[in-house]
Amino acid sequence: DWSSKSFIEHQIEDIRQKAGKETVICGISGGVDSTVAAVLVSRAIGKQLHCVFVDNGLLRKNEAEKVMSFLKPLGLRVTLADASDLFLNRLKSVASPEKKRKIIGRTFIQVFEEHMNQEKFLVQGTLYPDVIESVSVKGPSETIKSHHNVGGLPKRMKLKLIEPLRELFKDEVRAVGRELGIAEDILMRHPFPGPGLAVRVLGSLTRERLDILREADEIYIEELKSSGLYQQVWQAFSVLLPVQSVGVMGDKRTYENVLALRAVESTDGMTADWAQLPHDFLARVSNRIINEVRGINRVAYDISSKPPATIEWE
Ligand code: XMP
Repeated sequence: DWSSKSFIEHQIEDIRQKAGKETVICGISGGVDSTVAAVLVSRAIGKQLHCVFVDNGLLRKNEAEKVMSFLKPLGLRVTLADASDLFLNRLKSVASPEKKRKIIGRTFIQVFEEHMNQEKFLVQGTLYPDVIESVSVKGPSETIKSHHNVGGLPKRMKLKLIEPLRELFKDEVRAVGRELGIAEDILMRHPFPGPGLAVRVLGSLTRERLDILREADEIYIEELKSSGLYQQVWQAFSVLLPVQSVGVMGDKRTYENVLALRAVESTDGMTADWAQLPHDFLARVSNRIINEVRGINRVAYDISSKPPATIEWE
C-alpha cells in the first residue's frame, strides 16, 4: 500500500544521506514535476538547495511572477534568471522549429551554468515513464522533435543526479505534492513545453507576436477554468499562425492574424485525441478573443489527433 507520507519520509532520509554537506542545484520550470522534486529536496536539506528559474522570454502572460509567487511560500531559495533578451535576440528571424529548439536548449544550458556555484548535485523531476522511455524504444515525439527539458544538462558538467520521483507516476507525484502542501491549481497544471511559446508562435518570433499570443491564450485558459473544462483535458493552448486573413470590423476591412485553439485528451502525451469542446464554449472564446485581442480577426479550432499530427504545432 503506497502512502505518500512514508514515501516522503524515506526520500528525505535518502536525500540527506546522498547530499551530505554539499550544495545542490535545481532548475525549476513552474511545472508539477520540478516543483514537487524541489520542495521534497528542500524539506530534506533546506538552504543547501538552490533553485534557478530561467525566464526565457517565451513564457505565458505573467508566468514568471506567478511561478515566483507560488514558490516563495514553499520555502525554496529561488533565483529568477531573466534571460529574455538573450533568448529573443538569438531567435530573431529563426523560423525552423528544429533550429528554434536547438537554440533554446543551448541557451538554457548557458544561462543555467552562469548561475551555478560549485554545486555537486542536480535535482531532476524525472518520472518513471521518463525512465522507461529512455531505456526502451523512444516514442514518436522523441524522434520527431528534439525535446528540451529543464534539467537536461550535458554530462561534462559532472553533476551527480538526485531524482526523487523516478519511481513515480504522475498521479503519485501529485499525491506527494499534496502531502507537501503544494496548492491544487499548481499540481493540476497542464504540461508546457520547454521551448515555450517559441513553438506556438509560428514563423517570425517577435515580442509583439508573443504578446498577441499571450493575451489570447490567457482568455482561452481562463474560460476553460471557469467552465470547469480545464481539468477535463490533458492540455490546451493557442497557436498564432503566420497567416493573415481578411475580416470586417464595423464598416472597416481588417487584415489580421489567425489564431488556432488546441485542446487534446491523452493519458501520456504519446497519442492524443482532439477534445470535443462544446460549441457554445468555443463560440464564447472566439468572440472574446476577436473582440479583446488586437491583431486577431479569426479563430480556428484544431481537429487533428496524434498521430498523425503532434500535440504542438512545431
Ligand atoms: P508533441 O508535440 O511531441 O508533444 O506531440 C507531446 C507532449 O510533449 C510536450 N512537449 C515538450 N515538453 N519539452 C518538454 O518538456 C519539449 O521540448 C517539448 N515539446 C513538446 C507537449 O507540450 C506535449 O505535452
